[in-house]
Amino acid sequence: MTWVLFLALAQAAAPTQIERGEARFHDAAKGCGACHAMKGKGTAVGPDLKDMSRLSPKAIAMGVRSTVTQYVQVVKLKSGEQFPAMPPKDNATEIYDLSKMPPAAIKATKADVASTSANNDWKHPAVAMKLSPDEMADLVAYIRFAGANNRQPVSPDDVQ
Ligand code: HEC
Repeated sequence: MTWVLFLALAQAAAPTQIERGEARFHDAAKGCGACHAMKGKGTAVGPDLKDMSRLSPKAIAMGVRSTVTQYVQVVKLKSGEQFPAMPPKDNATEIYDLSKMPPAAIKATKADVASTSANNDWKHPAVAMKLSPDEMADLVAYIRFAGANNRQPVSPDDVQ
């Protein structure tokens, strides 16, 4: 085997940045796919990342690291149960209790919600994951590919 052929094969076998990001995103133990669905994989507990996938790498990384929540509320059901969750949309038949990991689906519609109040306790788990700049770049590259079909490489400098 010549070196040229060997190098070509080695390169073919090395995962691309998008593939690395996909593996990290859907990692069973500490992934994002437990709460975000992309390309039909994962569970849609949190917001759809498709809209965000069109933004700059920096803006997406800020969304991942954000310590304030804009959707999650403390939801109190008429049954008395109370937990942090994204309030159910009009036609939704379940709501995810974010105090559990993985979040627990509870059968409830909008009509079952007694009240909602500001969330001060639940934090986006990605904040505690302490993602390295390389990991963040891989994740952002995957989100941009999966949501917006964008194959542009993302440099760790773009997500600082
Ligand atoms: C336990 C569930 C959970 C896990 C795990 C999780 N997220 Fe999230 N994510 C959420 C929820 C819920 C929100 C909405 C927070 C809010 O209220 O602003 C969110 C918000 C986001 C946003 C901002 C979306 C927007 O429209 O503002 C991005 C980007 C994101 N997550 C990416 C990730 C990535 C990447 C990972 C893995 C490293 C991850 N998330 C892990 C539940 C999760």
